[in-house]
Amino acid sequence: MKKKILKIIQSKNNVPLVCLTAYSKPFAKILDKYCDIVLVGDSLATAMYGMKNTHEVTIEMMIQHGISVKQNLNKALCVIDMPKDSYKTTKQAIKNARLIFKKTKCDAVKLECNGKNYEIIKNIVKKGMPVMGHIGFTPQYHKKFKPQGDSINEKKKLLDQAKKIQEAGSFSLVLECVNKNTAKIITKSLKIPTIGIGASLNCDGQILVTDDMLGLSGFYPKFVKKFANLNNIIEIGVKKYKKAVINKKHPTKKNTF
Ligand code: KIV
Repeated sequence: MKKKILKIIQSKNNVPLVCLTAYSKPFAKILDKYCDIVLVGDSLATAMYGMKNTHEVTIEMMIQHGISVKQNLNKALCVIDMPKDSYKTTKQAIKNARLIFKKTKCDAVKLECNGKNYEIIKNIVKKGMPVMGHIGFTPQYHKKFKPQGDSINEKKKLLDQAKKIQEAGSFSLVLECVNKNTAKIITKSLKIPTIGIGASLNCDGQILVTDDMLGLSGFYPKFVKKFANLNNIIEIGVKKYKKAVINKKHPTKKNTF
């Protein structure tokens, strides 16, 4: 097993894992200084491309953004989301995972669990490609947003999924919008680290969509804390530029050849 992956697994019960998403060079460069894991999430569909959900994301999009991010990471583990419908059969999943690894040189891929694809995860891992799992609210398979794992039945179902994903060989597991007690039980039951998004402090690490937590995307559900307001900062800059152009204050001699 690769050293970087082993380090993530060994971080369980230690300092929480710091994880964020990136889709481009400038973000990757900054995040690399502070994050254990940088995810090229298929959330780029909504956050970057303005699509209504993640369902139309293509392998080519993930590869293009994956290359840009991975080239600018030295320290952080680079994980790339496999788009919906790119891992429907074992054969297709292995072919597409191989393509993502070959083109981007990423460290791992992430797959959302649909309650059936454990063999697919197992076979990708068997071929030497590390897999991060994802359960709870999985945007590729859920249409309407709803927190997960509130009822006893849901709790059992999620715990069962988490154990099967670990058995299949995943090195970590994202819990999205999972009830805090369910997250606690899952985290305690697994040897691999859990990474929460809206899943409480009971996880081994945390992840958010960077564009959301920096106030860029305009998407602020309950589980997103805004740590900055980049929209405002960008607007201030753009307004200053407009004023300077209209008043013929830009470009000055300094910016002219
Ligand atoms: O696509 C994404 O960014 C994700 C995270 C929200 C975990 O899957």
